[in-house]
Amino acid sequence: MVKTANIITLLCNKGGVGRSTTAVNIGWSLADAGRNVLICDLDSQANASYNLSKDYTVVESGKNISQMMANGTGSFSDYISDTRHSRLKLLGSTLFTDKTEADLRRNQTMNSHRIFESKLDRSTREDFDYIIFDTPPSKSSILMLNALIVSNWFWYIIGAEDQWALDARVIMDKIVADVKKLNTKLNALPVLLTRYKKNNTQSRYMKQICEKTFEKGVFPGCVRDTTFITKSNSARQSIFEYDRRHNCAKDYAAASRNLIETVENRKNNEIGPEKTVPHNDESSIHDMGY
Ligand SMILES: Nc1ncnc2c1ncn2[C@@H]1O[C@H](COP(=O)(O)OP(=O)(O)O)[C@@H](O)[C@H]1O
Ligand SMILES: [Mg+2]
Repeated sequence: MVKTANIITLLCNKGGVGRSTTAVNIGWSLADAGRNVLICDLDSQANASYNLSKDYTVVESGKNISQMMANGTGSFSDYISDTRHSRLKLLGSTLFTDKTEADLRRNQTMNSHRIFESKLDRSTREDFDYIIFDTPPSKSSILMLNALIVSNWFWYIIGAEDQWALDARVIMDKIVADVKKLNTKLNALPVLLTRYKKNNTQSRYMKQICEKTFEKGVFPGCVRDTTFITKSNSARQSIFEYDRRHNCAKDYAAASRNLIETVENRKNNEIGPEKTVPHNDESSIHDMGY
């Protein structure tokens, strides 16, 4: 049986919860654990891209998500860049990704939420063990819908201080439910709580609520709140480059072990375009109401 990538979309319709930080550091620690990983940055803030592509060459090189979407024929493998880790690659974002979103939304004639199905080529699916989509905070992102439609996992990343992320969750759940009608292979991962403060009542309360209310509960390890993360992000480094002995690096390493156990122990996690619902189904973005 041919091995294909585990494809994961990071979710939370709230900014600043640690999604991009998680994309970078989970990506790095999975790569350290011997997995080939592709991070796809779908956010025009491009935080994960600025971090992973040290000199931020994704604009001049033309290897970025906007160029890929603008080109009728190119596929993922044509737009992937190297990072500082040999096993970790990047499909980068630029400040123009906003315009790409707007163009997709304006184009009424195509199934703009199903473009990744054809762009995510076989060699990319087979070359990587993990493909992780970092998403923008907007619930109406068409790039995020594209990602969910080709994913086999969605992963809520929630800031432990952030009650708001839970209040707004009902909208994301509706989007996931709608996408599941088109992609029956989409599954929930346990939530990852970030910015967790050990002796803080709010953090503990959020963990309890998430354990009760999310389908798969919460990963046992949370990622602690620490200025080391802010510093490593400012230095445009993963926490493993900045200080791999710091407890926060250990948190991310533990989270990636939990992820590997959950994802790789699950049998039959292959996906392919043939498993999704054909395009002539009632699947227009406008029918979905976003
Ligand atoms: N575990 C953490 N501890 C402290 N600060 C964090 C942590 N994770 C993320 N941050 C900070 O929070 C801010 C938002 O993080 P980011 O990963 O960009 O969130 P998102 O992608 O969800 O918008 C950044 O300034 C980042 O440095
Ligand atoms: Mg982000």
